[in-house]
Amino acid sequence: MSMNTFGHLFRVTTWGESHGPALGATVDGCPPGVAIDEAMLQQWLDKRKPGQNKFTTQRREPDAVRILSGVFEGVTTGTPVQLMIENTDQRSKDYGDISEKFRPGHADITYWQKYGIRDYRGGGRSSARETAARVAAGGLARAALAELAPGLEITGYMVQMGPHGIDRANFDEAVIAGNPFWCPDATAAETWAGYLDDLRKSGDSVGAVIEVTARGVPAGLGAPIYAKLDTDLAAAAMSINAVKAVEIGEGMAAAALRGSENADEIRMGPDGPIYSSNHAGGILGGISTGQDIVLRFAVKPTSSILTSRRTITKSGEETEIITKGRHDPCVGIRAVPVGEAMVACVLLDHLLLHRGQTGGNRGRIG
Ligand SMILES: Cc1cc2nc3c(=O)[nH]c(=O)nc-3n(C[C@H](O)[C@H](O)[C@H](O)COP(=O)(O)O)c2cc1C
Repeated sequence: MSMNTFGHLFRVTTWGESHGPALGATVDGCPPGVAIDEAMLQQWLDKRKPGQNKFTTQRREPDAVRILSGVFEGVTTGTPVQLMIENTDQRSKDYGDISEKFRPGHADITYWQKYGIRDYRGGGRSSARETAARVAAGGLARAALAELAPGLEITGYMVQMGPHGIDRANFDEAVIAGNPFWCPDATAAETWAGYLDDLRKSGDSVGAVIEVTARGVPAGLGAPIYAKLDTDLAAAAMSINAVKAVEIGEGMAAAALRGSENADEIRMGPDGPIYSSNHAGGILGGISTGQDIVLRFAVKPTSSILTSRRTITKSGEETEIITKGRHDPCVGIRAVPVGEAMVACVLLDHLLLHRGQTGGNRGRIG
């Protein structure tokens, strides 16, 4: 059983807990010869790092990543790459209350029911500290993709905070990195700032929708039936803490469309097929079309909040809980780089699978 591992050929195993000495990822199956160093990985970890503004947890972790194996003279060797991030700002005393009580909406109760033991400090393994390890592995995947599929670009951004969505007419990729929410609509970002500040001060939290777009994905990645590209992308996104729904392309809204509206018409362009629209989100029959891959996922509101909630103790007594400690009022913000990392890992994995089975793209058109 490998319940801490994902990927077929590019296999990522993460390990560690929130308040242990360190956590990390063991990446097996990375092709040899990929140029990589710690600084190249660190740029992605810095996007996820806590404490960057008042809208994320005030835990102050440098999240400095170290490469312990699998790299020699600046390139991967094809052997396992061990990535490690030390935990340096744990405050276990903040979590005394949750050693006995279960936080509503969190994994405390189910970890206890399953294992009969849990590291409650900071949520232990259920803490999204674990996602730092995925971001490090995603950085390695991006470096390999840069060499194997030049021009492939993965961009994540937030399209909805609570009830407030972006206006697609204002979509500007250039503003994504310029606000604390990775929001592509500068006007929406201003609204969100006031909205989230009020929520944070009132001791509450809110959910979000994240979109990740992958451009320049070659046609042909993915495989029927049990290794569909969309199956693996959905599983990867759903594995992120607090994610409750995943959509590809039109997603749930496709149910309300007619066939004549939903099927993307095909014409012949100068360099191959072109499509009139992208309701499919870049995937047909589990295989990439060469259009942008568009994936969205919904993140629930943070369950550790300063508002009193009713719950029970381990011994079954009814009680109430207020969760102190340092928590994100909207975990969707820091889920953006995590979503990008998971998409990078899945796309590299499928690129390697495709290369392994077919040797490269075969069905040329035109
Ligand atoms: C980047 C990120 C940061 C998170 N930070 C917190 C947090 O500070 N407090 C909290 O209660 N949950 C946080 N979560 C969510 C919990 O980890 C998650 O809700 C919990 O593990 C239960 O799993 P589930 O929501 O997937 O069922 C975070 C999630 C992500 C993606």
